[in-house]
Amino acid sequence: MTTEPAALASEPETATAPVADTTDSTVTLQVWRGDPDGGAFAEYSLPANEGEVVLDVVHRLQAGPAPDLACRWNCKAGKCGSCSAEINGRPRLMCMTRVDELPPGPITVAPMRTFPIIRDLVTDVSFNFAMAKLVPAFSPPPPPAEGYRMQQIDVERGQEFRKCIECFMCQDVCHVIRDHEENKPAYAGPRFFIRIAELEMHPLDTNDRRDLVRQQMGLGMCNITKCCTEVCPEHIKITDNAIIPMKERVVDADFDPVGWLGRKILRRSKTSPTETAAISAYPGPSPSAPAG
Ligand code: SF4
Ligand code: SF4
Ligand code: FES
Repeated sequence: MTTEPAALASEPETATAPVADTTDSTVTLQVWRGDPDGGAFAEYSLPANEGEVVLDVVHRLQAGPAPDLACRWNCKAGKCGSCSAEINGRPRLMCMTRVDELPPGPITVAPMRTFPIIRDLVTDVSFNFAMAKLVPAFSPPPPPAEGYRMQQIDVERGQEFRKCIECFMCQDVCHVIRDHEENKPAYAGPRFFIRIAELEMHPLDTNDRRDLVRQQMGLGMCNITKCCTEVCPEHIKITDNAIIPMKERVVDADFDPVGWLGRKILRRSKTSPTETAAISAYPGPSPSAPAG
């Protein structure tokens, strides 16, 4: 029987939350330790160092009392998206979470709940890579002799979505898959809704991913709770700027006869035959069996 890490805290810490007492000489971490068969929180106390982030303390645990503690990280600068964990019940980057900005008392550190556990703080996020493979690529027409030109507003719209560091914390917090494993084969999640929005809103793109996002990626299951937006470390307005516009486009494509006709006559091709074949052949990602 698998022991689940702590459930997500229902409320964010507010600006008025008490600040850790920096005169306290110790920092206490309760770290989830375990594997796919189960686990539990283990408590460690270390001397506190000024200015540390949670990842610093985890590294000191690895160098001291818990040398076999597994965690994933790369940049320690908030840019690689590797060190996502649930700190005091909320998804956060361990490398960007200062210890002295958390409430006093023990700090819990647990793996992301939405993904299968490999060991300790490391989860199997291959679900996301399997979903990424389903998104048809950017497909511009051949460039004219004078080259492509874009309005600045179109450049900026795409740049917001390109800030994504693939930390997958938005995926972790999305209730559609967080507590409903059965939804995963038919639901891509907010990270891929912004990827599709980025491509669909690109003025040069000729692919059409609206049927894909509605019929196979489950856009309709998103009920705009905005939890994904709240946890995004890059402050991407996932719901307002990507999901809601995509929902409008999908409705236009499928239920507006004028739009449907215009789409047929004027503009976009569907996905390429190769992409269509790949999507049709896809059985849905298996979280317990990492893709390729
Ligand atoms: S807004 Fe939609 S995608 Fe984002 S967390 Fe809520 S249900 Fe999931
Ligand atoms: S959209 Fe934000 S929360 Fe989601 S994976 Fe990208 S950076 Fe992380
Ligand atoms: S280690 Fe790269 S984002 Fe934290």
